[in-house]
Amino acid sequence: MTSVLVLPGDGIGPEVTAQAVKALRAVAANGPQLEMAEALIGDAGLLAAGDPLPDATLEAARRADAILFGAAGTYKSDLLPPEKRGGHGLLRLRKALDLYANFRPVFAFPELLGASTLRREVIEGVDLVVLRELTGDIYFGTPRGVHRDDAGERYGINTMRYTEAEIRRVGHAAFRAARTRRRKLCSVDKANVLETMALWREVMSEVGRDYPDVELTHLYVDAASMHLIRRPRDFDVIVTGNIFGDILSDAAAMLTGSIGMLPSASIGESGRGLYEPVHGSAPDIAGQDMANPLASILSAAMMLRHSLGQEAAARAVEAAVREVLAEGYRTGDIMEPGARQVGTEAMGDAVAAAIARRRG
Ligand code: IPM
Ligand code: MG
Repeated sequence: MTSVLVLPGDGIGPEVTAQAVKALRAVAANGPQLEMAEALIGDAGLLAAGDPLPDATLEAARRADAILFGAAGTYKSDLLPPEKRGGHGLLRLRKALDLYANFRPVFAFPELLGASTLRREVIEGVDLVVLRELTGDIYFGTPRGVHRDDAGERYGINTMRYTEAEIRRVGHAAFRAARTRRRKLCSVDKANVLETMALWREVMSEVGRDYPDVELTHLYVDAASMHLIRRPRDFDVIVTGNIFGDILSDAAAMLTGSIGMLPSASIGESGRGLYEPVHGSAPDIAGQDMANPLASILSAAMMLRHSLGQEAAARAVEAAVREVLAEGYRTGDIMEPGARQVGTEAMGDAVAAAIARRRG
């Protein structure tokens, strides 16, 4: 039996995750059984156990074959000291499980080309993956903190830091991913200004010698952000550090019409992974049955594929999502004239019904 730990978390996390669980139950009804357990994280963990990553949650996460994650942190906890903030629980979990490779696939669904703020002819055919390094960089480097100098003035400090080994392992993951796709890899850095990023570029080029069949290019992050909006179809796999990947993947989300469509997979050395929608907790729309559950449902599909070895089930979930979009179901964020606006719950029901039809 395969075990999945579900961490709904905060904001819209619980409501979108519930729809992904529905989709998983629909696939499991006619296939390998999944054992699903739930635990607390984020503000929910802080409230119940005084810690955004309670010990019991971390232990359960270590035992599970895969983790389905909702969202962590709301602006309520943004005012607390860093170690109490909801989002911090997620950062610690990524680090503790060494989930260094964060894949964020960006795919322009033909049905949603009109929902983007970008012109149809720019985004038509977009199919790229941002591979974001997830356990290093300025997110984790020390020294860090806010201090006072001798004159009593406050200053803040964070440290961009990467070891050669950290760059190399995410580099290999990126080249391997490119081999399963169009064999084009673009490494994004800021090597013209930052020494850490010059090392990044050097090591990526070294790793590239093992993959002569993959075309490696390099872009500075400022130029990459422009190209992403101007000629997004040029990209196949993008590999970049933690902070640049955070920023670029939100921008890339708009190529799909809505950040509500973007799933992600965070994978470690063992192949075990954490699967989460990229959108975050969106507390402003939480509890109103408004959130788009498709990113969470598509994350569950990635989980079936990458951690549970169930390719056919993954495809069934993805095909079901395409089907409900083709039928005209839309949440508010991707609504278009003439379409049929539904809430979170109804969208989840429609996907589960489409899965049941396919697997029935
Ligand atoms: C993301 C989020 C997180 C991050 C936050 C919630 C800590 O923005 O997964 O992209 O910055 O990594
Ligand atoms: Mg982010």
